[in-house]
Amino acid sequence: MNSNRAPHDQNDLEESENAEFSVDLNIKPSYSNPPPRVSQQNLGRDLADDSDVVVDDTARSNNAKKTNRSNIAMEVRNLHKIYESQAGKSVVLKGINFIIKKGEFVSIVGPSGSGKSTLLNIMGALDTPSSGKIFINNVDIFALSKSQIADMRNKLIGYIFQSYNLINRTTVQKNVEIPAIIAGMSDKQRKSRALKLLDLLGIKNKSNYKPTNLSGGQQQRVAIARSLMNNPAIILADEATGNLDTKTGEEVFELLRMLTKRYNRTIVFVTHNPELAARTDRTIFIKDGQVERESINQKYALT
Ligand SMILES: Nc1ncnc2c1ncn2[C@@H]1O[C@H](COP(=O)(O)OP(=O)(O)O)[C@@H](O)[C@H]1O
Ligand SMILES: [Mg+2]
Repeated sequence: MNSNRAPHDQNDLEESENAEFSVDLNIKPSYSNPPPRVSQQNLGRDLADDSDVVVDDTARSNNAKKTNRSNIAMEVRNLHKIYESQAGKSVVLKGINFIIKKGEFVSIVGPSGSGKSTLLNIMGALDTPSSGKIFINNVDIFALSKSQIADMRNKLIGYIFQSYNLINRTTVQKNVEIPAIIAGMSDKQRKSRALKLLDLLGIKNKSNYKPTNLSGGQQQRVAIARSLMNNPAIILADEATGNLDTKTGEEVFELLRMLTKRYNRTIVFVTHNPELAARTDRTIFIKDGQVERESINQKYALT
């Protein structure tokens, strides 16, 4: 008999039963504390709107045709970064401009030291620009307060690093849950969503393992699952396949492509690998802190 169960438990149960029949990424994260409204601008609502979309091909081609501002996931505007040290000034980013559309899979390539990581770190609000702006869902992120930036980073940006950056003393599942713990998602929804994401990425059977007991490719899948946990507006991947052998790197890359094609995720993928870059929608070539050129790539079928 469940007569003693508190009403909120019943709601949770219904939620999890329904969730079993929904498409993995079509789950709107719900938080015990809803995302705070940022300035006058509706960061929270933008995220929720975005999270509804499991986009079919029609929506994708519409997305490509229209260029109104609501189709823009991120804008980088006249970005400069100058490092100053005793050795002197080093101008690393020299006026970078580009737009990333919602659902786009964009690669950034360039020689080592050209400023790719610096750029991506600023796009993800892990670092600040010397001048210039970043807009995510049309919000000027560096105009926000520090705590709003932290909140925005947690809810709107998923980050995937070359070295995975997992916490080894806890389980795979807990690693995936961490962004949602910070965001205040309910226990039950958080756990069920983490398992669904691990399932989507083919490593649900590893959920109770510690990350160190997984292969590099499996650890990167965990990091991808973690990046998706709060259903971010954009996923930033810095050399995400850089530590993996060719075959495993290929598999991880195909997972990211699957996420953009089937689930309309917006991904910026920094890579040294020109063959992988050519299989994204568009490549931005960076040289010496500037955009050298861009190329729209030939469409590849999903393998
Ligand atoms: N914290 C820092 N202080 C000073 N210089 C830095 C710092 N971070 C990066 N740089 C310099 O900025 C340049 C671009 O680095 P980075 O963005 O890591 O390039 P990439 O990712 O394309 O290899 C390099 O010359 C690097 O030495
Ligand atoms: Mg780098």
